[in-house]
Amino acid sequence: MNWWSRRAEHGTAVAPSLLSADFADLGREVARMESAGADLIHLDVMDGRFVPTLTFGPPVVAAVRRRTALPLDAHLMVAEPERHLAAFAGAGADAITIHIEAVPAPGAALDAIGALGKRRGLSLNPGTPIAAVLPWLDRVDLVLVMSVQPGAGGQSFQPAALDKLRALAARRAASGLGFAISIDGGVNAGTAPACRDAGADILVAGSYLFGAADPAAAISSLR
Ligand code: DX5
Ligand code: ZN
Repeated sequence: MNWWSRRAEHGTAVAPSLLSADFADLGREVARMESAGADLIHLDVMDGRFVPTLTFGPPVVAAVRRRTALPLDAHLMVAEPERHLAAFAGAGADAITIHIEAVPAPGAALDAIGALGKRRGLSLNPGTPIAAVLPWLDRVDLVLVMSVQPGAGGQSFQPAALDKLRALAARRAASGLGFAISIDGGVNAGTAPACRDAGADILVAGSYLFGAADPAAAISSLR
């Protein structure tokens, strides 16, 4: 079983993004997604600098931690993420994902995440070529491909992300490395099949899952 999946058999994992949840009722929202079959929980941290918007920080991650045993991926859309790694680790994040645009030479930051005992995630924006992350693949546990410009939920999927998934999957097969491949932005029942075919292990979805009348059916439709 992979660390990002609840199932023994191989299959695509689904990570609801809390960005589209009711922030006044996060505990209930997490429980709702957990019982609907979510594999892990994706937490979008925005600082108003790396992206224009603001969301939440370590205290909210800690509050979510108290409500679920699912793995938590803290997606740090923040400038200078190095300053906050220990705080997110202490809050109970299982994976901490930083952006290559925020830390162009992320070796030390990735090592710091590993030293905190957490999974090392590296993300890239739609405008960033895949070549930017290739040198770091032997030092990550997760690559998060953005299929929308980070900063907001509910945007349309950018198909160019599929080429990045394919390139990562090919590189992983050729190298024997074991990092997880994840995609974030505009994932729904219409775009998920192409993501799975292109090699994504984890599908992050916000508006599609939280807007669904039947979250269990929506999660199944992504798998
Ligand atoms: C975008 C965030 C995503 C977002 C996805 O900045 O990183 O995780 O919540 O939302 P949807 O699934 O609505 O595109
Ligand atoms: Zn995200």
